[in-house]
Amino acid sequence: QHVVLLFGGNSSEHDVSKRSAYNYYKALEETGKYDLSVVAIAPNGYFLDADRSMKIMMQEDEQPLVDAYMAELKDRGVLSPIKALEDLAPIDIFFPVVHGNLGEDGTLQGLFRLLDKPYVGAALRGHAVSFDKVLTKEILTQNGVRNTKYLVTYAADEKPLTWAKVEQELGSVVFVKAANQGSSVGISRAENEAEFEAALKDSFQYDRKVLVEAAVNGPRELEVGVIGNDEILVSEIGAHQVPDQGGDGKGWYDYHSKFVDNSEVAFEIPAKLPAPVTEEIKAMAKKAYRVLNLQGEARMDFLIDEDNVPYLGEPNTLPGFTNMSLFKRLWDYSNINNAKLADMLVEYGFD
Ligand code: DAL
Ligand code: MG
Repeated sequence: QHVVLLFGGNSSEHDVSKRSAYNYYKALEETGKYDLSVVAIAPNGYFLDADRSMKIMMQEDEQPLVDAYMAELKDRGVLSPIKALEDLAPIDIFFPVVHGNLGEDGTLQGLFRLLDKPYVGAALRGHAVSFDKVLTKEILTQNGVRNTKYLVTYAADEKPLTWAKVEQELGSVVFVKAANQGSSVGISRAENEAEFEAALKDSFQYDRKVLVEAAVNGPRELEVGVIGNDEILVSEIGAHQVPDQGGDGKGWYDYHSKFVDNSEVAFEIPAKLPAPVTEEIKAMAKKAYRVLNLQGEARMDFLIDEDNVPYLGEPNTLPGFTNMSLFKRLWDYSNINNAKLADMLVEYGFD
């Protein structure tokens, strides 16, 4: 069977995606079961041909390859992406490994549906809903999955949300987030009016809808892997320990600590938690996966407060699979090695 991995894309997680795709490629190769191709999506949105895509996945300098491809396309007068896919051998299944925009918001899944091909991971709807932080919280809340208190504000609001109201309803430390953005982009922390106004302005650059979320006291960040379609499997729970940068109490797991400099982030698998809390988190992860209508794979991120009360932070419907990614380590720890996991994900995709 011919599996086509897609990676890259126009989000800030382009390079993360490349590293995730490489690991899935190796894992699928290890099964010895599949014919494999890769398609790189350049930051400008072009789908590259198989040869160049492979080189890019193997970490060759991308820009010259993209430039040459664009020059060729100009001569031929052809536009990707369909063309790039047509040039491949008949495709049995797509395996998107594109994080953030395009991959995690349902866009690529729409393309696969138009092409009438199966694909790995959640269906279009699950991705699109889970990518919207406000919709996600509304669905979780409706279904009794504990999450932090929040307010929603729109760019077109006649009466803008005031800091006084935020402080009154959510407390004096909040996170302000663009509703539709991955990778901790368009997110700021605010604890006074000036910071709040600046945070709103930043978030509104990315979306017309902005989520304002209460902070959790003394939080630890936990992550759980979830896979499956009807029968859902939950991994062990992993924890991040991000030291306080500069001792200002503002240490949190941001884009920098996630993907750029991981040296300060310590992992703990399985996270040390009282047994009932472990069970509660696993049950919440499973329930969230179901009510958000997810299939294939996801990673559920939790916050846990100083009294060990867990809150579902966010679902990630296309979790990173780099060497630093907890999702990868969690399954290993749960006795599902990389090759087995990749194989299961393909099977779920065909199901
Ligand atoms: N958004 C990154 C890739 C993750 O959640 O792992
Ligand atoms: Mg995320």
